Amino acid sequence: MAQILPSILSADFARLGDEIAKVESGGAGMLHVDVMDGHFVPNMTLGPPVVESIRKVTRSVLDVHLMITDPDRYAPLFVEAGADQVSVHYEAATHLDRTVRNIQSLGARAGVVLNPATPVGVLEDMLDVVDYVLVMSVNPGFGGQKFIPNSLKKIRRLDKMRQERSLPFRIEIDGGVNLENVGEIVRAGCDWLVAGSSVFHSADSASAVRDLQRAADGALAVRV
Ligand code: DX5
Ligand code: ZN
Repeated sequence: MAQILPSILSADFARLGDEIAKVESGGAGMLHVDVMDGHFVPNMTLGPPVVESIRKVTRSVLDVHLMITDPDRYAPLFVEAGADQVSVHYEAATHLDRTVRNIQSLGARAGVVLNPATPVGVLEDMLDVVDYVLVMSVNPGFGGQKFIPNSLKKIRRLDKMRQERSLPFRIEIDGGVNLENVGEIVRAGCDWLVAGSSVFHSADSASAVRDLQRAADGALAVRV
């Protein structure tokens, strides 16, 4: 079953605990945490101490998305802070295999993220190593951007590759996810859908999660 992951980037950071409790009351069981360093992307967000504080107020799966230039140095700190899974950008990693295996050796799931301009083919020899692949459907750095439709092709291709090779990795999408496109994203083969502004900038974030999840479940029902 496909799952909706609220992205706390669009939450009110001054009331983060309440914001998290609210989306969890709407059924969220995984939370997406964006880490930006002002180098890899032109924006800055949060570091390990914030993840540590979040860990104390939730049992949800913490999905940490590192948009930073030095993932080898910092990924272990996020695992230590309580991340259940950590993804690194293909474009930022010099020795991707080592980076991914290092995260896994610390007891967390490891994902690789692809920017919109990076083709899925570059991961051909990593698909049996990674726990998940995150397809960026916007250029990373900011919430509230428009969904790039080409990402659907990338999801379909990844889904085909995992079926052909009987691999267990999960497929995640991040950027511009809303009620209008949830159905086609799920039908393309996506497992985890990150949603920031369509959840936290709505009138009621709990119902927004519920509505997106219902749309995702409905899309799967159509698929069968
Ligand atoms: C963008 C971040 C996303 C962001 C998505 O660089 O990686 O996780 O929160 O926000 P929306 O859903 O508003 O596009
Ligand atoms: Zn993200």
